[in-house]
Amino acid sequence: MKDILEKLEARRAHARLGGGKNRIDAQHKRGKLTARERLELLLDKGSFEEFDMFVEHRAGEFGMEKTKIPGDGVVTGWGTVNGRTVFAFAKDFTVFGGSLSETHAIKITKIQDMAMKARAPIVGLFDAGGARIQEGVAALGGYGDVFKRNVVASGVIPQISVIMGPCAGGDVYSPAMTDFIFMVKDTSYMFVTGPDVVKTVTNEIVTADELGGAGVHAGKSGVADGAFENDVECLLQMRRLIDFLPLNNQAGVPEWPSFDDPEREDFSLDTLIPDNPNKPYDIKELILKVADEGDFFEIQPSFGRNIVTGFGRIAGRTVGFVSNQPMVLAGVLDSDASRKGARFVRFCDAFGIPIVTFVDVPGFLPGTAQEYGGLIKHGAKLLFAYSQASVPLVTVITRKAFGGAYDVMASKHVGGDINYAWPTAQIAVMGAKGAVEIIFRQDIGDPDKIAARTREYEERFLSPFAAAERGYIDEVIRPHATRRRIARALAMLRNKTVEMPPRKHDNLPL
Ligand code: HXC
Repeated sequence: MKDILEKLEARRAHARLGGGKNRIDAQHKRGKLTARERLELLLDKGSFEEFDMFVEHRAGEFGMEKTKIPGDGVVTGWGTVNGRTVFAFAKDFTVFGGSLSETHAIKITKIQDMAMKARAPIVGLFDAGGARIQEGVAALGGYGDVFKRNVVASGVIPQISVIMGPCAGGDVYSPAMTDFIFMVKDTSYMFVTGPDVVKTVTNEIVTADELGGAGVHAGKSGVADGAFENDVECLLQMRRLIDFLPLNNQAGVPEWPSFDDPEREDFSLDTLIPDNPNKPYDIKELILKVADEGDFFEIQPSFGRNIVTGFGRIAGRTVGFVSNQPMVLAGVLDSDASRKGARFVRFCDAFGIPIVTFVDVPGFLPGTAQEYGGLIKHGAKLLFAYSQASVPLVTVITRKAFGGAYDVMASKHVGGDINYAWPTAQIAVMGAKGAVEIIFRQDIGDPDKIAARTREYEERFLSPFAAAERGYIDEVIRPHATRRRIARALAMLRNKTVEMPPRKHDNLPL
């Protein structure tokens, strides 16, 4: 028996070495951890249970029959994050560049199927060159099987992808169908085709970083939801994110002990809004002061920064915060902000996470760049997402709520359950200057008349009361009481139930 156990340990030790010591050293030299080191950091200490450590590929062409490596380039299994079950797989770049073979795909789909059966989140750590070229269509078929499961699991269990090395082909398409993508700065890249192919096809000379680095995807394309300095920071932040997420779409939001009194008032909020209505202020200050212990996990902090999205907790329970950001483009809604907000709202709705919306929006961004870029469709995504949401929606208008953007931002009309306004709120079709120039065009040559008309407009419309008189605003609240009012509203709405007419699925404006 002792012999057998020793043999088992030897086989395990060999499998754990993946592509061998030299390749592990090369991985470390590039500032990257190995697949197993990454899983150890992601999961609670000692909780990882590995599957299929001895699986090898079955390819026999291009000399592949002589290069079988146990595990076949991916480490799969399950463990816990702060005690809650999470399934995970980590691509092993030391084995055929983490590329996906037929058997490698079977290992991943097994974990996807188990995560679905157990209704627990799945995290993929990517560091891989896509389909294993030597396996041809068998590898493509394997990716198809992974993609299909990504889609079946969408909206049922949270799926998180972390890009931790150069990733191409299927290793970017599978992440693209999951809920969140995070990257590591300077060591991770995402592209459908790499710089060499780009040069051959288009003559464009571009570095990997310029083509698909973290700066590109977290800041420009919006493909990624965030980027972190290194593997360790990234994985620790993933643990923090997982703590906010429900295990599945039926489980309800997690509830963690909180020492922050839901009744806490914050008098500094009474002076958050500057006297000058054109002066910006940081909406994140409001989020941090309302959320339990100021703990806020921001999604897409560097993309579409005129809207802020992310997770926090109130009374220990997860909420999604969506806020216009007056510090960036005056908080206007453009295509990027609309797409960003829409995707976040839909994630929250799919997983039963209540949404708290803070509104300070001067409208949609005018101009040819936006119109040619499809602002109408992108703006409609956010409108559609809010109108469709059946989770509790609590909205607070802090300052401007102008035009169509007023309707979009979880107004009463599209399904807001509780709509509060601060006394500083201005709810109107547009600001005073634009409005007076249109409806009193005949007075434009007379500054006194225009000044009087402007005052009249401001008094009547640039307040929360025209909306409150109609019941579109449930209550005008004092800023310092915002956390208390939201906490009470969310407690009241805890069992919110909405009936929708039967249909196969909606037709979101894509
Ligand atoms: C087989 C691969 C591989 C692949 C890398 N390797 N990608 N082996 N199939 N797809 C191997 C290399 O041969 C090398 O082996 C080792 O992994 C490390 O790769 P390097 O190129 O030395 O590393 P690096 O310079 O860091 O470049 C990484 C890379 C590059 C950017 C990922 O390898 C690359 O461009 N690979 C091909 C990407 C690609 O086009 N994949 C197919 C996509 S199609 P040795 O033994 O020399 O160390 C696809 C279809 C899915 O995925 C469907 C999508 C919808």
